[in-house]
Amino acid sequence: MATSSTTLSFILTSFLLCPLMAYAEDPYVYFDWVVSYSQLSPYGVQKQVIMINNQFPGPLLNTTTNDNVFVNIHNQLSEPFLLTWNGVQMRKNSWSDGVEGTNCPIHPGKNWTYAFKMKDQIGSFLYFPSFGFQKAAGGFGPIRINNRKVIPIPFDSPADDFDVLIGDWYNVDYKELRSSLDAGDRLPSPDGVLINGLPEYKANFTFQPGSTYRLRISNVGLKTTLNFQIQGHKLLLIETEGSYTVQQYYDTLDIHVGQSYSVLVTADQPEKGTYYMIASSRFSGGDALVTGVAFVHYNGSNGQPVGQLPQSPCSNDYSYSMKQALSIRRNLTAGAARPNPQGSYKYGSINISRTIILANDAALINNITHYTINGVSFIYPDTPLKLADYYHIPDVFTLGGISDTPDGRVPILGTPVIDALYRDFIQIVFQNNQPTIQTWHFDGYNFFVVGMDGGNWDESKKQAYNLVDAVSRSTIQVYPFSWTAVLVPLDNQGMWDIRSQDEERRYLGQEVYMRVRGADTSVLPDPRDENQIPSNIIKCGKAEN
Ligand SMILES: *[C@@H]1O[C@H](CO)[C@@H](O)[C@H](O)[C@H]1NC(C)=O
Ligand SMILES: *[C@@H]1O[C@H](CO)[C@@H](O)[C@H](O)[C@H]1NC(C)=O
Ligand SMILES: *[C@@H]1O[C@H](CO)[C@@H](O)[C@H](O)[C@H]1NC(C)=O
Ligand SMILES: *[C@@H]1O[C@H](CO)[C@@H](O)[C@H](O)[C@H]1NC(C)=O
Ligand SMILES: *[C@@H]1O[C@H](CO)[C@@H](O)[C@H](O)[C@H]1NC(C)=O
Ligand SMILES: *[C@@H]1O[C@H](CO)[C@@H](O)[C@H](O)[C@H]1NC(C)=O
Ligand SMILES: *[C@@H]1O[C@H](CO)[C@@H](O)[C@H](O)[C@H]1NC(C)=O
Repeated sequence: MATSSTTLSFILTSFLLCPLMAYAEDPYVYFDWVVSYSQLSPYGVQKQVIMINNQFPGPLLNTTTNDNVFVNIHNQLSEPFLLTWNGVQMRKNSWSDGVEGTNCPIHPGKNWTYAFKMKDQIGSFLYFPSFGFQKAAGGFGPIRINNRKVIPIPFDSPADDFDVLIGDWYNVDYKELRSSLDAGDRLPSPDGVLINGLPEYKANFTFQPGSTYRLRISNVGLKTTLNFQIQGHKLLLIETEGSYTVQQYYDTLDIHVGQSYSVLVTADQPEKGTYYMIASSRFSGGDALVTGVAFVHYNGSNGQPVGQLPQSPCSNDYSYSMKQALSIRRNLTAGAARPNPQGSYKYGSINISRTIILANDAALINNITHYTINGVSFIYPDTPLKLADYYHIPDVFTLGGISDTPDGRVPILGTPVIDALYRDFIQIVFQNNQPTIQTWHFDGYNFFVVGMDGGNWDESKKQAYNLVDAVSRSTIQVYPFSWTAVLVPLDNQGMWDIRSQDEERRYLGQEVYMRVRGADTSVLPDPRDENQIPSNIIKCGKAEN
């Protein structure tokens, strides 16, 4: 349902290889999506699933760098709905970010049009429902931002691209899961893993013998890290969340919740073969291990794979996984969204103006286990923080309501917002002193993943940072009793969500926002730095009048 208009500007940008043509308007692409329920039973148990245009997973948001994207969402659910665009930077435009801190949800029977630009981005991402634990019912789908034709991709053009969405799946209805979390229960173990919405042995991919394919793999699940592999085939890693990586082969790849990777796979095994594609749970804590299996058929083969289902790496081998994470680096000579190479931005030589240490923990508050960041468990007010900030509505959030380092306070519920200065260059350290793996995401930004290790972070750890070719991405894991450090150029004004990608933890408070503003907050931001409030903005809570 994507239609590309402004044919003239399309022709201009495609055929005139002149990067200075500032007057050539970027293409406009329109999507019209109907969100509704359906009953599906992927694991034998019927469940209410959220469909987009009658598809589960939802349709591909297929775009190109600098496209102006419009997605008109028609909510036919029985409750409010919001989609967020995980990894799309929404430059100057937290107005369309689609999280409860920036947007009022779209009411049942209503529609609303998200408007955003794929400014200076390439890569593979995902979207998902951000409201009311609806992600447990589906509503997620793939996003591609393709290179503009004027910028070559740093590998031979693949024969085709496949979106591969993997994720844990729970048979229990999402509203029931939500009520049980509200009552203080834990999420049950997952019932299985879906690959593109299909259970074990149901999804098929067809490869032409000898051809090479790009697989854009995203973990769309609620909480389970998945290890991905294809029997007999190596995965050539080429991209993650908008960075072209140094191209390296992996036998298997750990993909944490909310992360996206592109790999090239060549059909170089004996012709007429069929092979297993596997996504199996890792670091599951006490949860049952679950595995998703699909088939890769070489064209003409309808048979079964030969041999056993390949083994996945030992479920709790953290050192293997961390070593793999540290081996993922940026290809500094590859161009991405702009013709100049990715490495031209020397993040390693910029002074860090502020260090924020975010430590996750669990605490019993009001007799319910809540997840905290530096002692504060986030609760959403009725009014989006962004609207409260814009209209100067008091008592909605607490600016500076969380300390820059854990201060050992008695855990509380609250609505803190980190106050940050536009154009600062900051360091965020995610400190995990718990036995479970964490995955963190920062809306509005990519950050440089400069280091991770076991134990407690301190200043001395900077010695070992990768200040040359760290990968730039938006979702990062933190291993148990470990830390991960990222550097962030705060070049995008707005109200931005920093969240656990583990939906259970996020639902129970492991989330915070950062307001990035110029020094003078008494005046409205310069429209060159931040978009003005959209005329169609939905108002709710204290912003209603
Ligand atoms: C995505 O868009 C690109 C550029 O317009 C086009 O070449 C490609 O065929 C599209 N892919 C899909 C799967 O629609
Ligand atoms: C709702 O959809 C109609 C067309 O289906 C469109 O004209 C209108 O602008 C949309 N409303 C909003 C608020 O996006
Ligand atoms: C890096 O990108 C360049 C430029 O596109 C490409 O030629 C090269 O093969 C890539 N190198 C690696 C190691 O990925
Ligand atoms: C995928 O292939 C398997 C085995 O060849 C077959 O049983 C299954 O029905 C296929 N699934 C679909 C959706 O076509
Ligand atoms: C499979 O092979 C047939 C015959 O060579 C060809 O027509 C078809 O396009 C191929 N399908 C794919 C998915 O490559
Ligand atoms: C970074 O800080 C050091 C020491 O404070 C100073 O000497 C240097 O000029 C600064 N560099 C930049 C690029 O601001
Ligand atoms: C707290 O929860 C536990 C277990 O759910 C229950 O047994 C206990 O009575 C509760 N205490 C209070 C003060 O509500």
